[in-house]
Amino acid sequence: MDGLAKANFRGLERLLSEGPRDEQAWQFARGQALLLAETGNLLMLRPPKMRGIDAWFDRGTDLRQQGTKLAQAVAARDLAKSRLLLQDVAACCNRCHQTFRIPVHIEPQAPVPPAPGSKVQKVSAETGSSSHS
Ligand code: HEC
Repeated sequence: MDGLAKANFRGLERLLSEGPRDEQAWQFARGQALLLAETGNLLMLRPPKMRGIDAWFDRGTDLRQQGTKLAQAVAARDLAKSRLLLQDVAACCNRCHQTFRIPVHIEPQAPVPPAPGSKVQKVSAETGSSSHS
C-alpha cells in the first residue's frame, strides 16, 4: 500500500496544493486520482481471510467511488472541488484502516516535509511523482 496508495495520494496532494501548472500536470493529477480509485479495486482482490469481508468490500467500493469522483473533478479542472474530494478519499483510507485496526492515519493537506536532499533522492519507479515538483 505504501508504494501505490500512499505515493499516489501524496503526489496528488502536492499537485493540488500547489495547483497544477499546465495541461500536463492536470493530466498527471487525473492519472493519480484514477490510480487511487484503482487501489479500491486492487484491495478488493485480496480481502482478509478471517472476518470482516463485507466491510472490506464496502470500504474498497467507497475508495473506488471517491477516487473516481476526484478524477472527474480533476478532469474538469476544478481545483477547489478536487481538494475537497481528496479529503474524502483520505477519509476512505482511514475508515478502512480503522475498521481493520491498521495504525496508519492518512492526514489530508498535511504539509509535505521538505526532506533534506530530497531533490536528488530518487522516488521508486512506480510513482514518478517526484520529478514534477
Ligand atoms: C479496503 C481497506 C483499505 C483501504 C480502503 C485502504 N487501506 Fe491502506 N491498508 C489496509 C490494510 C489491511 C493495511 C495493512 C497492510 C497491508 O495488508 O497491506 C494497510 C496499510 C496501509 C499503509 C501502511 C504501509 C503498508 O504497506 O503496510 C499505508 C501507507 C496505507 N495503507 C495507505 C493507504 C491509503 C493512502 C489509502 C487510500 C488511498 C488506503 N491505504 C486505503 C487496508 C486499506
